[in-house]
Amino acid sequence: MYFTLQSPLDMHLHLRDEMMLYQVAVHSAKSFAGGLVMPNLVPPVTSIETLLAYKERILTACGNEKFEPLMSLFFRNDYSYEFLQKAKPYIYALKLYPSGITTNSEGGVNSMDIENLRATFEAMSELEIPLCVHGETNGFVMDREAEFGSIYEQFASNFPKLKIIMEHITTKHSVDLLSRYENLYATITLHHLLITLDDVIGGAMQPHLFCKPIAKRPEDREALLHVALSGDSKVMFGSDSAPHPLHKKECCGCAAGVFSAPIALQVLVELFEKHNKLENLQAFISNNARVIYNFIPLAKEVILEKKPFLVPNNYGDVVPMFAGAELAWSIKNVH
Ligand code: DOR
Ligand code: ZN
Repeated sequence: MYFTLQSPLDMHLHLRDEMMLYQVAVHSAKSFAGGLVMPNLVPPVTSIETLLAYKERILTACGNEKFEPLMSLFFRNDYSYEFLQKAKPYIYALKLYPSGITTNSEGGVNSMDIENLRATFEAMSELEIPLCVHGETNGFVMDREAEFGSIYEQFASNFPKLKIIMEHITTKHSVDLLSRYENLYATITLHHLLITLDDVIGGAMQPHLFCKPIAKRPEDREALLHVALSGDSKVMFGSDSAPHPLHKKECCGCAAGVFSAPIALQVLVELFEKHNKLENLQAFISNNARVIYNFIPLAKEVILEKKPFLVPNNYGDVVPMFAGAELAWSIKNVH
């Protein structure tokens, strides 16, 4: 049995830099036609020059694979209109991190007060630059995303022309917000479709499943699954594939992030097949993103085959999700 995807896209992706970039980029580039690259490097990507240089390094690391890095800038509330206008041809989004909320987000925004953000949001609305948001407060870890809900609502209602993408949503509450505001969209990761907090800490602790936002309750996962499997035009796939070297995962003070890039497509096909929703995978993996971001991706056909794929235990010093497991589907051909 075969299943073909046209130009699969990963609309939330960490590729890192230097050695790590060279280890991981090729795995995204093999499966996907493009990906929205997160700007949380050290230091974060905040200028056009560093963004373009980073894009070149990504393309080099992708070798001969056909892959378009869709670049994003790290959100700052002091970017001028002129700067954003100049950046617009090179970027797909600005990514807003609350300061200190996750890996390399120290230079993020300190206050979500809309007056603090108004000038930038207005410029982005006018220039039609989407806003991607890591939506968590610094409250109790299980409630952080739900607490951020009222901030999403303020953003959405005060800036109706701004496209706001709630990144890596993990709760039923966030899913419910999507239908209430025309300008709210979301990415959903593979791991949040599969796991709950139980899988992370319910038994022996699983550092390779530890990520931000933390996986939540079964009813949250059900809501995410439902909206993703339905092909709902408000949601798109964003792996949040976030590699960290083994010594930063299997240690005290484990870094947050699940490395899923090499297995994402194979597992998504299995998941949609299991739920008899294969017909909606193309929307989730590519078509919805094309409409939301208003662009045409590189032409790339990925043919998957229902043939076992043994996931390597590691890619260099990074451990992937499903390390050592046998998946039902593999990638047969890409052209
Ligand atoms: O788990 C995560 N890892 N969540 C994020 O928001 C950032 C990411 C990373 O960069 O490692
Ligand atoms: Zn991320």
